[in-house]
Amino acid sequence: MRSSLTLLTLATVAVAVAAQDTSSVFDFPEYPPPLTPPPNQTIADGVALLPANETNNDPALSQAQIHFDTGRFGPSIELVHAYFNFWPTGVAVSSDGSVFTCFPRGNETFTLAKLNSSTTEAPFPSEDANTPPSFANKSNPTFSIATDKLIFVQSVVVDGRDRVWALDTGRPRINGTMLLAATPGGPKLVGYELNGTTFATITFPDSVVAADSSLNDVRFDLRGDGFAYISDSSMQRPGIVVVNLKTGESWRHLDGHPSVSPQAGFIPFHNGIPTYLHPPTPPNAITFFNRFAVDAIALSDDGEFLYYAPLAGRQLWRVPTSVLKVQPSSTNPGAAVLAQQAVQSMGDTGSHADGLETDDQGFIYLSAPEHNAINRFNPKTGMIEPFVRDPAIQWPDTLSVVSLQSGGNFLYFTANQLWLSPDYQNGTDLRTKPYAMFRVPIEGGRANQT
Ligand SMILES: *[C@@H]1O[C@H](CO)[C@@H](O)[C@H](O)[C@H]1NC(C)=O
Ligand SMILES: *[C@@H]1O[C@H](CO)[C@@H](O)[C@H](O)[C@H]1NC(C)=O
Ligand SMILES: *[C@@H]1O[C@H](CO)[C@@H](O)[C@H](O)[C@H]1NC(C)=O
Ligand SMILES: *[C@@H]1O[C@H](CO)[C@@H](O)[C@H](O)[C@H]1NC(C)=O
Ligand SMILES: *[C@@H]1O[C@H](CO)[C@@H](O)[C@H](O)[C@H]1NC(C)=O
Ligand SMILES: *[C@@H]1O[C@H](CO)[C@@H](O)[C@H](O)[C@H]1NC(C)=O
Ligand SMILES: *[C@@H]1O[C@H](CO)[C@@H](O)[C@H](O)[C@H]1NC(C)=O
Ligand SMILES: *[C@@H]1O[C@H](CO)[C@@H](O)[C@H](O)[C@H]1NC(C)=O
Repeated sequence: MRSSLTLLTLATVAVAVAAQDTSSVFDFPEYPPPLTPPPNQTIADGVALLPANETNNDPALSQAQIHFDTGRFGPSIELVHAYFNFWPTGVAVSSDGSVFTCFPRGNETFTLAKLNSSTTEAPFPSEDANTPPSFANKSNPTFSIATDKLIFVQSVVVDGRDRVWALDTGRPRINGTMLLAATPGGPKLVGYELNGTTFATITFPDSVVAADSSLNDVRFDLRGDGFAYISDSSMQRPGIVVVNLKTGESWRHLDGHPSVSPQAGFIPFHNGIPTYLHPPTPPNAITFFNRFAVDAIALSDDGEFLYYAPLAGRQLWRVPTSVLKVQPSSTNPGAAVLAQQAVQSMGDTGSHADGLETDDQGFIYLSAPEHNAINRFNPKTGMIEPFVRDPAIQWPDTLSVVSLQSGGNFLYFTANQLWLSPDYQNGTDLRTKPYAMFRVPIEGGRANQT
């Protein structure tokens, strides 16, 4: 059994490695690869006697040690923040230990924040910057307004120079419905120093970010001109937005490619139970969980690849950044085709992923809401490795690696019970406060990418 499994595993890696390049098929590292914790820390199991009512009151059966799933592996998680106020998505940590977070905007009074105690958050950079004059455009009420104030920050990221970037989708949810974005000026990328001073505001032409675009997550490579890569998780127009940080120009790639699109008929399982879309709006129809396109992204440590995963699906993909950096234009008419042809499958991830993150060892961490876990992809072996699992990891959303000046490398993440919100539960909110932020120690440090 074991040896045939090993053969299967090797065959899979052979395909992955061959697809990537060069190295001989006899070059596989042994499994487990270096840095993998010993099996008794990575395999979630235990044995125990069952209660008498489950052994038919048979004295012989009551002595049987039965194997069970403990629900845990890897390092211990540490609760660093409990959210009693708004529902969080993003987290980003700077090297001085400041923790930034964001809240999708409905009636929330702020959308970007910095933690100011273990249970409270303060608007960042200020309450004023978080307070647009209104959400809906009065002359065009299904659209949001164009404004320099933050409307709906979906993602917050600290870059390799310890600066804070907020990705504003510009599409608040009013009366249970997401407004269309006013473009340009609603959706934007805003850069702040740690002290809250704004150093960059990048808006997008509506050919790049349309009214029904849904900017979701962003990663930065500050080498050369500097580039930002943004996932557009819109069901209508999934794709990747690329920004040249020096010129402020932006363009799109991979529009509608299967790798950025939802998997038809997808049904994730959470705590063992299937999750469908079941919104509170009439006719209360149940549909597949397939509204959600490319969501989580991460940049390889060396900046050569953008990794990404649609939220509706269990596949990890990557594309060389060299092709993304080429703006499709009359001077590069083939750029869009070349980018689509360069997409590589990194295989099955066993769970959909809402967050991806990089460290300086080359690992790509993947949130795994279906397993209450975070796993990691090892590009050196082409394989997924277990990393941490705990029953309290209830929908790991965003991941953020930091090397703290005070010492220690950590992976921070939010756990926000997303699937228990009303859209999936026929209008009933089954989430319980507080929502959580955890951290776990990691061997690697932050990939500065500067
Ligand atoms: C793992 O196994 C080793 C050797 O079998 C043992 O020394 C160690 O205590 C175990 N660790 C845990 C966390 O159980
Ligand atoms: C056995 O008892 C436990 C606790 O009293 C209960 O939760 C469980 O449902 C029972 N199992 C069966 C098979 O009756
Ligand atoms: C915001 O909306 C939610 C759900 O629609 C509601 O439960 C909550 O009371 C509202 N909060 C405020 C401050 O209006
Ligand atoms: C945190 O910020 C909030 C909002 O500004 C404020 O009400 C609260 O007093 C602050 N708490 C601490 C401990 O500073
Ligand atoms: C509201 O929409 C109109 C028409 O599209 C536009 O001209 C105006 O600038 C918008 N106002 C704001 C505040 O975004
Ligand atoms: C939301 O509902 C309120 C109360 O019914 C209404 O006054 C307002 O116009 C609605 N806003 C939008 C953007 O539909
Ligand atoms: C904020 O930080 C930046 C970068 O360190 C610095 O240039 C600027 O002077 C600071 N502004 C204030 C008001 O402290
Ligand atoms: C969903 O909610 C609606 C409205 O409350 C209700 O009529 C319907 O029976 C519910 N459906 C299910 C499957 O619970």
